[in-house]
Amino acid sequence: MTELFKAPKGTYDVTPPFSALWLAVRDALSTPPRNSGYGYIETPIFEDTALFVRGVGESTDVVSKEMYTFEDKGGRSLTLKPEGTAGVLRAMLESRMDRGALPAKVWYTGPHFRYEQPQSGRYRQHTQVGVESIGSSDPALDAEVIWMAHHAQRNILGLKQVRILVNSLGCKECRPGYRKTLVDFLSKCDLDETTRARAEINPLRVLDDKRDAVQDQLKDAPLMPDHLCAACSEHHEKVLGYLDVLGVKYEKAPRLVRGLDYYVRTTFECVHDGLGAQSAIGGGGRYDGLIETLGGPAIGGVGFGLGVDRTCLAVQAEGLKLVDESSTDVFLIPVGQEAITKVVGIAGDIRSAGINADITYDGRSIKAAMKSADRRGAKFALIIGEDEIANSTAVVKNLVDGSQESLAVESLVSVLLDRLK
Ligand code: HAM
Repeated sequence: MTELFKAPKGTYDVTPPFSALWLAVRDALSTPPRNSGYGYIETPIFEDTALFVRGVGESTDVVSKEMYTFEDKGGRSLTLKPEGTAGVLRAMLESRMDRGALPAKVWYTGPHFRYEQPQSGRYRQHTQVGVESIGSSDPALDAEVIWMAHHAQRNILGLKQVRILVNSLGCKECRPGYRKTLVDFLSKCDLDETTRARAEINPLRVLDDKRDAVQDQLKDAPLMPDHLCAACSEHHEKVLGYLDVLGVKYEKAPRLVRGLDYYVRTTFECVHDGLGAQSAIGGGGRYDGLIETLGGPAIGGVGFGLGVDRTCLAVQAEGLKLVDESSTDVFLIPVGQEAITKVVGIAGDIRSAGINADITYDGRSIKAAMKSADRRGAKFALIIGEDEIANSTAVVKNLVDGSQESLAVESLVSVLLDRLK
Protein backbone atom coordinates (compact mmCIF):
# COMPACT_ATOMS: atom_id res chain seq x y z
CA MET A 1 0.00 0.00 0.00
CA THR A 2 1.25 3.52 -0.76
CA GLU A 3 2.00 5.41 2.42
CA LEU A 4 -0.04 8.57 2.99
CA PHE A 5 1.72 11.92 2.88
CA LYS A 6 1.88 13.96 6.06
CA ALA A 7 1.87 17.73 6.59
CA PRO A 8 5.47 19.00 6.69
CA LYS A 9 7.17 19.01 10.10
CA GLY A 10 6.08 21.94 12.24
CA THR A 11 2.90 22.61 10.25
CA TYR A 12 -0.65 21.50 10.76
CA ASP A 13 -3.90 21.49 8.83
CA VAL A 14 -6.82 23.61 9.94
CA THR A 15 -9.69 21.17 9.49
CA PRO A 16 -13.34 21.06 10.62
CA PRO A 17 -14.66 21.34 13.26
CA PHE A 18 -11.57 23.16 14.67
CA SER A 19 -11.50 25.43 11.61
CA ALA A 20 -14.72 27.11 12.80
CA LEU A 21 -12.91 28.24 15.95
CA TRP A 22 -9.84 29.26 13.94
CA LEU A 23 -11.93 31.48 11.65
CA ALA A 24 -13.85 32.96 14.60
CA VAL A 25 -10.56 33.85 16.32
CA ARG A 26 -9.10 35.42 13.19
CA ASP A 27 -12.30 37.39 12.76
CA ALA A 28 -12.34 38.53 16.41
CA LEU A 29 -8.70 39.69 16.27
CA SER A 30 -9.35 41.76 13.16
CA THR A 31 -12.58 43.36 14.41
CA PRO A 32 -11.00 46.25 16.39
CA PRO A 33 -8.75 47.38 13.50
CA ARG A 34 -11.68 47.17 11.08
CA ASN A 35 -13.61 49.43 13.46
CA SER A 36 -10.75 51.84 14.04
CA GLY A 37 -9.94 53.20 10.60
CA TYR A 38 -7.54 50.49 9.39
CA GLY A 39 -7.81 49.42 5.72
CA TYR A 40 -7.06 45.85 4.61
CA ILE A 41 -3.73 45.17 2.91
CA GLU A 42 -2.46 41.94 1.39
CA THR A 43 1.13 41.49 0.31
CA PRO A 44 3.01 38.58 -1.32
CA ILE A 45 3.96 35.54 0.73
CA PHE A 46 7.58 36.01 -0.39
CA GLU A 47 9.74 39.10 -0.62
CA ASP A 48 13.32 39.98 -1.52
CA THR A 49 15.54 38.38 1.12
CA ALA A 50 17.35 41.71 1.57
CA LEU A 51 14.12 43.35 2.80
CA PHE A 52 14.08 41.16 5.90
CA VAL A 53 17.84 41.34 6.45
CA ARG A 54 17.66 45.12 6.45
CA GLY A 55 14.23 45.50 8.03
CA VAL A 56 14.18 42.88 10.77
CA GLY A 57 17.92 42.90 11.51
CA GLU A 58 20.75 40.53 10.68
CA SER A 59 21.48 39.71 14.31
CA THR A 60 17.97 38.48 15.13
CA ASP A 61 17.25 34.76 15.38
CA VAL A 62 14.43 35.27 12.90
CA VAL A 63 16.84 36.42 10.17
CA SER A 64 20.01 34.56 11.10
CA LYS A 65 18.47 31.14 11.75
CA GLU A 66 14.82 30.90 10.85
CA MET A 67 14.21 32.16 7.34
CA TYR A 68 12.93 30.00 4.49
CA THR A 69 15.16 31.41 1.77
CA PHE A 70 15.39 30.12 -1.78
CA GLU A 71 16.60 31.19 -5.17
CA ASP A 72 13.99 31.38 -7.91
CA LYS A 73 14.59 30.35 -11.52
CA GLY A 74 15.65 33.92 -12.31
CA GLY A 75 18.42 33.78 -9.73
CA ARG A 76 16.69 36.10 -7.22
CA SER A 77 17.03 35.40 -3.52
CA LEU A 78 13.54 35.29 -2.06
CA THR A 79 12.29 34.55 1.45
CA LEU A 80 8.90 33.40 2.73
CA LYS A 81 7.85 36.18 5.07
CA PRO A 82 8.90 35.38 8.64
CA GLU A 83 6.96 38.38 9.98
CA GLY A 84 4.59 40.95 8.55
CA THR A 85 5.95 44.42 9.25
CA ALA A 86 8.79 44.64 6.71
CA GLY A 87 6.66 43.50 3.76
CA VAL A 88 3.69 45.66 4.68
CA LEU A 89 5.89 48.76 5.06
CA ARG A 90 7.53 47.98 1.72
CA ALA A 91 4.07 47.85 0.13
CA MET A 92 2.90 51.05 1.84
CA LEU A 93 5.96 52.91 0.59
CA GLU A 94 5.68 51.41 -2.89
CA SER A 95 2.06 52.51 -3.14
CA ARG A 96 2.99 55.93 -1.71
CA MET A 97 0.70 55.70 1.27
CA ASP A 98 3.32 57.71 3.16
CA ARG A 99 2.49 60.69 0.91
CA GLY A 100 -1.25 60.66 1.59
CA ALA A 101 -3.20 61.43 4.76
CA LEU A 102 -1.22 60.41 7.83
CA PRO A 103 -1.22 58.29 9.82
CA ALA A 104 -1.83 55.65 7.17
CA LYS A 105 -3.31 52.63 8.91
CA VAL A 106 -3.60 49.07 7.57
CA TRP A 107 -4.41 45.61 8.89
CA TYR A 108 -3.49 42.24 7.43
CA THR A 109 -3.70 38.55 8.04
CA GLY A 110 -1.89 35.59 6.58
CA PRO A 111 0.68 32.87 7.09
CA HIS A 112 4.24 33.54 8.26
CA PHE A 113 7.13 31.11 8.13
CA ARG A 114 9.93 30.51 10.61
CA TYR A 115 12.25 27.53 10.70
CA GLU A 116 11.94 26.99 14.45
CA GLN A 117 12.12 23.87 16.61
CA PRO A 118 8.46 22.85 16.62
CA GLN A 119 6.68 22.39 19.93
CA SER A 120 3.22 23.05 21.27
CA GLY A 121 2.29 26.56 20.11
CA ARG A 122 5.42 26.98 18.01
CA TYR A 123 5.08 26.13 14.36
CA ARG A 124 7.03 26.58 11.15
CA GLN A 125 3.97 28.16 9.57
CA HIS A 126 1.77 30.34 11.75
CA THR A 127 -0.94 32.89 11.04
CA GLN A 128 -1.04 36.42 12.36
CA VAL A 129 -3.51 39.26 12.33
CA GLY A 130 -1.41 42.41 12.23
CA VAL A 131 -1.71 46.18 12.02
CA GLU A 132 0.75 48.86 10.96
CA SER A 133 0.16 52.55 11.37
CA ILE A 134 2.72 54.94 9.91
CA GLY A 135 3.33 58.66 9.90
CA SER A 136 2.55 59.70 13.45
CA SER A 137 4.59 59.81 16.61
CA ASP A 138 1.56 60.53 18.77
CA PRO A 139 1.63 58.33 21.91
CA ALA A 140 -2.17 58.06 21.60
CA LEU A 141 -1.56 55.89 18.53
CA ASP A 142 0.63 53.49 20.54
CA ALA A 143 -2.21 53.26 23.05
CA GLU A 144 -4.74 52.64 20.26
CA VAL A 145 -2.69 49.69 19.01
CA ILE A 146 -2.36 48.15 22.47
CA TRP A 147 -6.05 48.74 23.18
CA MET A 148 -7.04 46.92 19.97
CA ALA A 149 -5.15 43.81 21.08
CA HIS A 150 -6.60 44.03 24.58
CA HIS A 151 -10.15 44.60 23.31
CA ALA A 152 -10.04 41.66 20.88
CA GLN A 153 -8.55 39.26 23.40
CA ARG A 154 -10.42 40.26 26.55
CA ASN A 155 -13.74 41.63 25.40
CA ILE A 156 -14.49 40.03 22.04
CA LEU A 157 -12.99 36.60 22.70
CA GLY A 158 -13.55 36.74 26.46
CA LEU A 159 -10.06 35.55 27.48
CA LYS A 160 -9.38 36.08 31.16
CA GLN A 161 -5.82 34.85 31.60
CA VAL A 162 -4.15 37.40 29.30
CA ARG A 163 -1.72 39.96 30.62
CA ILE A 164 -0.37 42.89 28.66
CA LEU A 165 3.26 43.67 29.36
CA VAL A 166 4.46 47.13 28.38
CA ASN A 167 7.95 48.59 28.18
CA SER A 168 9.89 51.38 26.54
CA LEU A 169 13.11 50.55 24.71
CA GLY A 170 14.20 54.16 24.35
CA CYS A 171 15.40 55.70 21.11
CA LYS A 172 18.61 56.30 19.20
CA GLU A 173 19.42 59.14 21.60
CA CYS A 174 19.15 57.29 24.90
CA ARG A 175 19.56 53.61 24.05
CA PRO A 176 23.30 53.67 23.14
CA GLY A 177 24.19 55.13 26.58
CA TYR A 178 22.01 52.57 28.32
CA ARG A 179 23.43 49.79 26.20
CA LYS A 180 26.93 50.72 27.30
CA THR A 181 25.89 50.66 30.96
CA LEU A 182 24.30 47.25 30.45
CA VAL A 183 27.36 45.86 28.64
CA ASP A 184 29.55 47.01 31.57
CA PHE A 185 27.19 45.27 33.97
CA LEU A 186 27.07 42.06 31.91
CA SER A 187 30.86 41.94 31.63
CA LYS A 188 30.96 41.42 35.40
CA CYS A 189 28.43 38.56 35.31
CA ASP A 190 29.34 34.89 35.09
CA LEU A 191 27.69 34.01 31.79
CA ASP A 192 28.15 30.93 29.62
CA GLU A 193 29.81 31.32 26.27
CA THR A 194 26.63 31.38 24.17
CA THR A 195 25.04 34.02 26.38
CA ARG A 196 28.22 36.07 26.31
CA ALA A 197 28.25 35.91 22.52
CA ARG A 198 24.63 36.95 22.53
CA ALA A 199 25.44 39.84 24.86
CA GLU A 200 27.99 41.08 22.37
CA ILE A 201 25.53 41.12 19.48
CA ASN A 202 22.46 42.33 21.35
CA PRO A 203 22.96 42.82 25.10
CA LEU A 204 19.31 43.75 25.66
CA ARG A 205 18.20 40.27 24.61
CA VAL A 206 20.07 38.80 27.58
CA LEU A 207 17.55 40.50 29.90
CA ASP A 208 14.84 38.40 28.29
CA ASP A 209 16.65 35.10 29.02
CA LYS A 210 14.18 32.74 30.67
CA ARG A 211 16.76 30.62 32.57
CA ASP A 212 16.90 31.06 36.35
CA ALA A 213 20.70 30.82 36.40
CA VAL A 214 20.90 33.85 34.13
CA GLN A 215 18.02 35.75 35.72
CA ASP A 216 19.59 35.33 39.20
CA GLN A 217 22.56 37.34 38.06
CA LEU A 218 20.47 40.02 36.46
CA LYS A 219 18.59 41.07 39.60
CA ASP A 220 20.47 44.36 39.81
CA ALA A 221 20.88 44.87 36.08
CA PRO A 222 20.33 48.43 34.84
CA LEU A 223 16.94 48.69 33.12
CA MET A 224 15.98 50.79 30.12
CA PRO A 225 13.03 52.67 31.71
CA ASP A 226 15.46 54.15 34.26
CA HIS A 227 17.67 55.48 31.48
CA LEU A 228 15.17 57.04 29.09
CA CYS A 229 15.82 60.52 27.71
CA ALA A 230 13.26 63.20 28.59
CA ALA A 231 11.38 62.83 25.29
CA CYS A 232 11.11 59.02 25.58
CA SER A 233 10.13 59.28 29.21
CA GLU A 234 7.34 61.73 28.38
CA HIS A 235 6.17 59.54 25.50
CA HIS A 236 6.09 56.48 27.74
CA GLU A 237 4.15 58.24 30.50
CA LYS A 238 1.61 59.49 27.98
CA VAL A 239 1.11 56.00 26.52
CA LEU A 240 0.51 54.59 29.99
CA GLY A 241 -1.87 57.46 30.78
CA TYR A 242 -3.94 56.79 27.65
CA LEU A 243 -4.04 53.09 28.50
CA ASP A 244 -5.52 54.04 31.87
CA VAL A 245 -8.13 56.16 30.12
CA LEU A 246 -8.94 53.21 27.84
CA GLY A 247 -9.26 50.86 30.80
CA VAL A 248 -6.42 48.61 29.61
CA LYS A 249 -4.85 46.81 32.55
CA TYR A 250 -1.15 46.51 31.81
CA GLU A 251 1.94 45.46 33.68
CA LYS A 252 5.15 47.42 33.44
CA ALA A 253 7.80 45.01 32.16
CA PRO A 254 11.18 46.75 32.27
CA ARG A 255 12.94 43.56 31.09
CA LEU A 256 10.72 43.00 28.06
CA VAL A 257 12.84 42.96 24.93
CA ARG A 258 11.33 41.68 21.73
CA GLY A 259 13.02 39.40 19.23
CA LEU A 260 12.99 41.85 16.34
CA ASP A 261 15.52 44.68 16.02
CA TYR A 262 13.31 47.50 14.82
CA TYR A 263 11.57 48.52 18.03
CA VAL A 264 12.07 51.87 19.74
CA ARG A 265 10.11 53.39 22.61
CA THR A 266 6.85 51.46 23.19
CA THR A 267 7.04 47.67 23.09
CA PHE A 268 4.43 45.29 24.38
CA GLU A 269 3.56 41.64 24.55
CA CYS A 270 0.29 39.86 25.33
CA VAL A 271 0.97 36.71 27.32
CA HIS A 272 -1.48 33.99 28.22
CA ASP A 273 -0.93 32.14 31.46
CA GLY A 274 -2.53 28.88 30.33
CA LEU A 275 -0.09 28.11 27.53
CA GLY A 276 3.23 27.06 29.05
CA ALA A 277 6.46 28.08 27.33
CA GLN A 278 4.97 29.61 24.16
CA SER A 279 2.82 32.07 26.06
CA ALA A 280 3.05 35.14 23.80
CA ILE A 281 -0.22 35.39 21.91
CA GLY A 282 0.71 38.75 20.43
CA GLY A 283 3.17 41.57 20.52
CA GLY A 284 4.23 44.75 18.89
CA GLY A 285 5.47 48.25 19.36
CA ARG A 286 6.84 51.39 17.79
CA TYR A 287 9.49 51.32 15.07
CA ASP A 288 10.54 54.93 14.34
CA GLY A 289 13.58 54.72 12.07
CA LEU A 290 12.59 51.51 10.27
CA ILE A 291 10.82 53.30 7.43
CA GLU A 292 13.99 55.28 6.70
CA THR A 293 16.03 52.08 6.81
CA LEU A 294 13.73 50.76 4.09
CA GLY A 295 14.37 53.85 1.93
CA GLY A 296 11.30 55.85 2.99
CA PRO A 297 10.95 59.21 4.71
CA ALA A 298 11.79 59.93 8.36
CA ILE A 299 8.40 59.03 9.73
CA GLY A 300 7.62 56.66 12.55
CA GLY A 301 5.16 53.84 12.92
CA VAL A 302 3.63 51.43 15.37
CA GLY A 303 1.89 48.08 15.03
CA PHE A 304 1.23 44.62 16.35
CA GLY A 305 1.12 40.98 15.30
CA LEU A 306 -1.37 38.70 17.05
CA GLY A 307 -0.92 34.94 16.71
CA VAL A 308 -4.10 33.23 15.51
CA ASP A 309 -2.83 29.71 16.29
CA ARG A 310 -1.76 30.47 19.85
CA THR A 311 -4.93 32.47 20.50
CA CYS A 312 -6.94 29.38 19.51
CA LEU A 313 -4.91 27.38 22.03
CA ALA A 314 -5.65 30.04 24.66
CA VAL A 315 -9.38 29.90 23.90
CA GLN A 316 -9.26 26.11 24.26
CA ALA A 317 -7.17 26.30 27.44
CA GLU A 318 -9.86 28.49 29.03
CA GLY A 319 -12.60 26.19 27.73
CA LEU A 320 -14.41 29.07 26.00
CA LYS A 321 -17.20 28.12 23.64
CA LEU A 322 -16.96 30.62 20.80
CA VAL A 323 -18.75 28.86 18.03
CA ASP A 324 -21.67 26.58 17.75
CA GLU A 325 -19.95 23.69 16.01
CA SER A 326 -23.24 22.39 14.64
CA SER A 327 -23.46 24.58 11.57
CA THR A 328 -26.40 22.62 10.12
CA ASP A 329 -29.88 23.65 11.21
CA VAL A 330 -31.94 21.58 8.79
CA PHE A 331 -31.06 18.16 7.42
CA LEU A 332 -32.94 17.13 4.26
CA ILE A 333 -33.64 13.46 3.66
CA PRO A 334 -35.00 12.23 0.31
CA VAL A 335 -36.62 8.82 0.27
CA GLY A 336 -36.49 7.31 -3.21
CA GLN A 337 -34.97 8.46 -6.50
CA GLU A 338 -37.72 10.93 -7.40
CA ALA A 339 -37.48 12.71 -4.06
CA ILE A 340 -33.85 13.63 -4.68
CA THR A 341 -34.74 16.18 -7.37
CA LYS A 342 -37.36 17.72 -5.09
CA VAL A 343 -34.98 17.86 -2.13
CA VAL A 344 -32.20 19.40 -4.21
CA GLY A 345 -34.59 22.22 -5.19
CA ILE A 346 -35.88 22.74 -1.64
CA ALA A 347 -32.30 22.79 -0.26
CA GLY A 348 -31.49 25.56 -2.75
CA ASP A 349 -34.47 27.61 -1.57
CA ILE A 350 -33.75 27.08 2.11
CA ARG A 351 -30.06 27.87 1.79
CA SER A 352 -30.80 30.98 -0.31
CA ALA A 353 -32.95 32.19 2.56
CA GLY A 354 -29.86 32.00 4.82
CA ILE A 355 -30.74 28.79 6.66
CA ASN A 356 -27.87 26.34 7.19
CA ALA A 357 -29.01 23.16 5.51
CA ASP A 358 -27.50 19.93 4.29
CA ILE A 359 -28.72 16.92 2.34
CA THR A 360 -28.14 13.24 2.84
CA TYR A 361 -26.66 11.84 -0.37
CA ASP A 362 -26.26 8.42 -1.95
CA GLY A 363 -29.73 7.13 -1.09
CA ARG A 364 -28.88 6.32 2.50
CA SER A 365 -31.57 4.83 4.73
CA ILE A 366 -33.72 7.11 6.90
CA LYS A 367 -32.13 5.55 9.98
CA ALA A 368 -28.59 6.32 8.80
CA ALA A 369 -29.68 9.79 7.68
CA MET A 370 -31.25 10.56 11.05
CA LYS A 371 -28.02 9.55 12.74
CA SER A 372 -26.07 12.00 10.57
CA ALA A 373 -28.62 14.72 11.35
CA ASP A 374 -28.14 14.06 15.02
CA ARG A 375 -24.36 14.05 14.80
CA ARG A 376 -24.45 17.39 13.00
CA GLY A 377 -26.62 18.88 15.71
CA ALA A 378 -29.43 19.65 13.24
CA LYS A 379 -32.58 21.10 14.80
CA PHE A 380 -34.95 19.83 12.10
CA ALA A 381 -35.03 16.87 9.72
CA LEU A 382 -37.02 17.38 6.56
CA ILE A 383 -38.17 14.15 4.97
CA ILE A 384 -39.64 13.81 1.50
CA GLY A 385 -40.91 10.52 0.01
CA GLU A 386 -43.49 9.47 -2.60
CA ASP A 387 -46.52 10.69 -0.61
CA GLU A 388 -44.98 14.06 0.08
CA ILE A 389 -44.14 14.53 -3.60
CA ALA A 390 -47.75 13.69 -4.51
CA ASN A 391 -49.13 16.28 -2.02
CA SER A 392 -46.37 18.87 -2.37
CA THR A 393 -45.59 18.59 1.33
CA ALA A 394 -42.64 17.71 3.52
CA VAL A 395 -42.46 15.97 6.87
CA VAL A 396 -40.66 18.25 9.30
CA LYS A 397 -39.36 16.52 12.38
CA ASN A 398 -38.28 18.65 15.32
CA LEU A 399 -35.13 16.89 16.53
CA VAL A 400 -35.09 18.75 19.82
CA ASP A 401 -38.54 17.76 21.14
CA GLY A 402 -39.28 14.84 18.75
CA SER A 403 -42.54 16.35 17.42
CA GLN A 404 -43.42 15.96 13.75
CA GLU A 405 -45.70 17.75 11.29
CA SER A 406 -46.52 17.86 7.62
CA LEU A 407 -45.99 21.24 5.95
CA ALA A 408 -46.76 22.55 2.48
CA VAL A 409 -43.60 22.98 0.43
CA GLU A 410 -44.41 26.66 -0.36
CA SER A 411 -44.54 27.51 3.34
CA LEU A 412 -41.30 25.69 4.29
CA VAL A 413 -38.91 28.65 4.06
CA SER A 414 -41.09 31.02 6.10
CA VAL A 415 -41.99 28.41 8.73
CA LEU A 416 -38.37 27.31 9.18
CA LEU A 417 -37.13 30.90 9.36
CA ASP A 418 -39.70 31.53 12.06
CA ARG A 419 -38.86 28.40 14.05
CA LEU A 420 -35.11 29.02 13.88
CA LYS A 421 -35.36 32.59 15.15
P1 HAM B 1 6.27 38.50 16.79
O1 HAM B 1 6.20 38.71 18.24
O2 HAM B 1 7.49 37.90 16.25
O3 HAM B 1 6.03 39.93 16.13
O4 HAM B 1 5.04 37.64 16.32
C1 HAM B 1 3.73 38.03 16.64
C2 HAM B 1 2.95 36.85 17.21
O5 HAM B 1 2.91 35.79 16.25
C3 HAM B 1 3.56 36.22 18.45
O6 HAM B 1 3.19 36.91 19.62
C4 HAM B 1 2.95 34.82 18.40
O7 HAM B 1 1.64 34.83 18.96
C5 HAM B 1 2.86 34.55 16.92
N1 HAM B 1 3.99 33.70 16.50
C6 HAM B 1 5.23 34.08 16.19
N2 HAM B 1 6.01 33.02 15.85
C7 HAM B 1 5.22 31.92 15.97
C8 HAM B 1 5.41 30.52 15.76
N3 HAM B 1 6.58 30.04 15.35
N4 HAM B 1 4.36 29.69 15.97
C9 HAM B 1 3.16 30.16 16.38
N5 HAM B 1 2.91 31.48 16.58
C10 HAM B 1 3.93 32.35 16.37
C11 HAM B 1 6.02 40.18 14.81
O8 HAM B 1 6.04 39.33 13.96
C12 HAM B 1 5.93 41.65 14.48
N6 HAM B 1 5.92 41.81 13.01
C13 HAM B 1 4.73 42.28 15.13
C14 HAM B 1 4.61 43.74 14.83
C15 HAM B 1 3.84 44.33 13.90
N7 HAM B 1 5.30 44.70 15.43
C16 HAM B 1 4.97 45.86 14.89
N8 HAM B 1 4.10 45.62 13.96
